[in-house]
Amino acid sequence: MKVSKLLVGLFACAISLGAYAQQPIVIKFSHVVAPDTPKGKGAQKFKELAEERTKGKVKVEVYPNSQLYKDKEEVEALQLGAVQMLAPSLAKFGPLGVKEFEVFDLPYILPNRDVLRRVTDGPVGKGLLDKLEGKGIKGLAYWDNGFKIMSANKPIHVPADMKGLKMRIQSSQVLDKQMRELGAIPQVMAFSEVYQALQTGVVDGTENPPSNMYTQKMHEVQKDATVTRHGYLGYAVIVNKKFWDDLPADIRTTLEGAMKDATTYANDIAEKENADALAAIKASGKTNVYTPTDAELKQWRDALLPVHAEVASRVGKDLIDAFYKEAAAAGAPIK
Ligand code: LMR
Repeated sequence: MKVSKLLVGLFACAISLGAYAQQPIVIKFSHVVAPDTPKGKGAQKFKELAEERTKGKVKVEVYPNSQLYKDKEEVEALQLGAVQMLAPSLAKFGPLGVKEFEVFDLPYILPNRDVLRRVTDGPVGKGLLDKLEGKGIKGLAYWDNGFKIMSANKPIHVPADMKGLKMRIQSSQVLDKQMRELGAIPQVMAFSEVYQALQTGVVDGTENPPSNMYTQKMHEVQKDATVTRHGYLGYAVIVNKKFWDDLPADIRTTLEGAMKDATTYANDIAEKENADALAAIKASGKTNVYTPTDAELKQWRDALLPVHAEVASRVGKDLIDAFYKEAAAAGAPIK
């Protein structure tokens, strides 16, 4: 009797262990933009590759459009382990205490994607991601969105047109400085709140790559936009470090491969996604899209380049110089 009870117990235990072994490892990947954006599509690609290559041992649940968490909350949720993966914009690491990422927000610091790749794929990019480890976060990759356009409800052809405008920004001190340099009044706000704030007049304008503007329908509540391409918006894909370190080694290696390929995919589509979105904004007829002349572009550059020196003590002069060096090496010097 005793032996058979023991056998039944062992059998039940074996079944439950078997069931446990078959439970997939779940990665919750939360983000704030629409699925139909470079980041949204990159997340979806990672999901497909990760699930296929681990043969179902890993399940990636993607939550777009701030469904789970808004900007600031999502980083806290990652640190607490409520979600495992995010891709916040590089402008959102300041509040976490890694303000060096704000170097990417400097106006006209990245003349083109070639310089960008030199920075992100080299020691500078790696050094920045390594800084996250002390926060319980591991940085896996850089994903592109694109270059920002400036929008409002009045024509903004030259920097002087920005004077007095209330402009929504991300939580970056560099962006705050940038707007003040133009005589505008910056206001930090979560991405999920921008459409309504524009619609109700809480803010007058904003800056974002066309892809974000179009997929959040911001163009429906902004009469004017100027293709200033004054700043870059991109992401760091990050994971909870403990979660990542505790994964079985073979699974982690497979996921690293999936991330590498999802990164190539996301960065390959980003430019076209933004070009298509800009064309769609123009075609909508809701926003007048203005392309500045060379002389006007020079005015924007001249007005904004002083920001580099003004924030050097915050983001690091050596870091800014490292960006300049890569730009010069790529034949596109900043100054
Ligand atoms: C923003 O808040 O404007 C962007 O960072 C949103 C995003 O993730 O692209």
